[in-house]
Amino acid sequence: DAPVGQLSSQLEKLSVGQLEPFPNSYPDLNPIDIYRSHIASLVSQVSGVDSKIIYPVMQWTSTLDNGDLTLPVAALRIKGKKPAELCEEWLPKFPESPLIEKPTSANNGAFIVFFFKPGPLTQLVVPQIQQRGAEFGKNPHPGLRDPQDPSKGKKRIVIEFSSPNIAKPFHAGHLRSTIIGGFLSHLYESAGWEVVRINYLGDWGKQYGLLALGFEKYGNEAALRDDAINHLFQVYVKINNDLAEEKEKIAEFEKEGKGAEAEGLKENGLDEQARRYFKAMNDGDDAALAQWRRFRDLSIERYKATYARLNVRFDEYSGESQVSEAAMTNAAKVLEEKGISEESEGAIVIPFAKHVPGKAGKSLEKPVIRKRDGTALYLTRDISELLHRVDKYDFDHLIYVVASQQDLHLKQLFKIIELMGHTEVAKKVQHINFGMVLGMSTRKGTVKFLDDIIRDVSDHMHEVMRKNEEKYKQVENPEAVAETLGISSIMVQDMTGKRGNNYTFNMEAMTSFEGDTGPYLQYAHARLCSITRKSGLSDEDVVTADLSLLTEKHAVDLVRVLAQYPDVFMNTLRTLEPTTVLTYLFRMTHLLSSSYDHLRIIGSEPELMKARLALYNSARTVLSSGMRLLGLTPVSR
Ligand code: ARG
Repeated sequence: DAPVGQLSSQLEKLSVGQLEPFPNSYPDLNPIDIYRSHIASLVSQVSGVDSKIIYPVMQWTSTLDNGDLTLPVAALRIKGKKPAELCEEWLPKFPESPLIEKPTSANNGAFIVFFFKPGPLTQLVVPQIQQRGAEFGKNPHPGLRDPQDPSKGKKRIVIEFSSPNIAKPFHAGHLRSTIIGGFLSHLYESAGWEVVRINYLGDWGKQYGLLALGFEKYGNEAALRDDAINHLFQVYVKINNDLAEEKEKIAEFEKEGKGAEAEGLKENGLDEQARRYFKAMNDGDDAALAQWRRFRDLSIERYKATYARLNVRFDEYSGESQVSEAAMTNAAKVLEEKGISEESEGAIVIPFAKHVPGKAGKSLEKPVIRKRDGTALYLTRDISELLHRVDKYDFDHLIYVVASQQDLHLKQLFKIIELMGHTEVAKKVQHINFGMVLGMSTRKGTVKFLDDIIRDVSDHMHEVMRKNEEKYKQVENPEAVAETLGISSIMVQDMTGKRGNNYTFNMEAMTSFEGDTGPYLQYAHARLCSITRKSGLSDEDVVTADLSLLTEKHAVDLVRVLAQYPDVFMNTLRTLEPTTVLTYLFRMTHLLSSSYDHLRIIGSEPELMKARLALYNSARTVLSSGMRLLGLTPVSR
C-alpha cells in the first residue's frame, strides 16, 4: 500500500486542498475517488446541495469522449427547476480547479460533464501503479468486518463451485462453475475477504454401488492409478450397459409370462446387488467403504491436476457422501416437529404451497426429502450440508455456483432453511447461476472430460500459432504456450457474455487472434512484455521518468482508462460478472493497439522513451492483474 501521508503530500503538490471523506471512498487506493470527492465539493459550493448527496450519484462513462465523470442533474432532486436551467445557473459559477477542466453540460442539461486535466491525472495514476504493482485496483477494505479497522479481522465467504460427479462426465456446466467460481474466489480475496473454496462432489448413491460391481468385473488397477476419472467412467458405462440388458431381459421374461425367471433376476441381478452394495456402504461396511474411498481419492488427485491448469484450487473436497445420516435424521425431525414436512404416500415431502402463500409457494412445488424406502435425496443432503457449513465455518456469506437448471433446487433449499428458523443463514446464502454451453463436443466423440476439451482446444491453438511461422519460431516452448492460450480461449469465451446467457462453444472463434478473444488478450500482454525487453531500459529509468512528457491524446486516453481500473474492480464486486472485468480489459487493449504507432519507443528521444515505457509498463501491470483476477495466466512471449 502507498505509504501514509503520501496522498496528502501529492495533493498538496497539485494544490488540491483537503479532501472531504465519504463512505466507501478510498482516495489513496482509487484515483477516481479523489476526483469524486473534489467534484462533490465543487458542485456543493455552486449548488448548495449537500456533497453527501452528490458524491454517490456521479457516474463514469464507457466512452472517453463523453467525459471522465458525469453528474445526472435530476439525481440531485431539486424541485421546481429543470436540469437545463440549473446547469445554466451553475456552470458559470464553477471555480478554476487544479484537477478538472471547466465542466460542460450534455443532453439538454441532463448531465454535467467533467473532464480530468491530463497532467495531474498522470501524476496521480502512473506512480501509484508503479508502486502498488499487482495490488493496484484491488481494495482490501470491503471484506473487513469493520472497513475502517483491520484489527477486527476479515469477513469469511464460502464459495462452493465446480462440484462434478465421480465416474460421470465433467460437463460444460461443471466447466462454467469452475471458471466462474475461480473468478469469484480471486475477486473476494482481492477485496479483503477470507475465502473458503469448497468442491461438493457428487459421490454418493446407488450408482456407486453399481460402479464397485463394475470394477470387480471390468476394473484394472493400473488404469485406475493412471487415470481414475477416465477409467471409472469407462467401467461405469460398461456396467450400465449390463444393467440395461438386465432390464430388457426382465421385461422380456415378463412378456413371455416367465414370472419366476423375471423374479429371479430382480432378486439376484445386478440392480439388486448394487442396491445391496450401496446399503453396505451406507451401513459403514469397511471393505466397501475402503474401495469407494480409493475411487474418490484417486479421482480427486486427477481433478486437482486439471484444476491447477485453470488456477483453481480447493480448501475442501466435500460431497454428498460426507453428509452424515445422523445430521439428516436431525434435520428431518425438526422439519416434522415444525410441521414443515408431511407424509405423502409413504414418502416425506415439503408442501411449499402450505407454507408460502400464492404463486411463490406453488412455484416451489412439493419436493420429496425421504423416499418410501427411507433413502435421502439430493435436496435432503444439501439441507444438512448447509447447516454443517454454518457450524464449521461460521461464514458471513455463502455462494453456490451452480447452473440455472438448478434454480428451483436452490430456491427450495434456501426456503427450507428459512422455514426451519435459520432466517439469518437464509439471508447469507446466494445462488450464482449461469446459462448453458451449446454445441460442446470433442473430436474423440461424446465423452466430454475437461482434460479432453483442453487438449482439443490446445491442439487447435497450436495449429493457429503455426500459421504465423516467423512468430512461431520465437516461442520457446510452443506446446506449453499453445496450452496456456487454449485454456485462455475457453475461459475468455465463457466469460465474455453475462453469466446468465447461453453461448455456443466455437473453437474457431475462441482461438482466433482477432476479435475479443483469449489469444488477443494474451497477445496484447506478450507485446507489452516484448516492448519492455526491447527498450533496454532499467526499472530505475522508468521510475524516474518525466511523466509530464505524456501529452499526446493516445497517451492521455490510456492514462484515463488505466485510472478506471480500481472503479472497475469495485463495480465487479457489485455485478459479480466476469464480463465487467473482461469488457474493460478489451477497451484498454484496443486503445493500446491503436496507440503503438503514435507512441513509439524505439527511435524516440531518451526521456520520451522512458516516459512512454512507464506508461506501457503500467498498462501491462493492469492487464496482467485483470487477467489473473479472471483466472488467466498471462504469457510473456
Ligand atoms: N454435483 C451436482 C451436479 O453435477 C452439482 C452440485 C451443486 N451443489 C450443490 N450444493 N447442490 O449437478
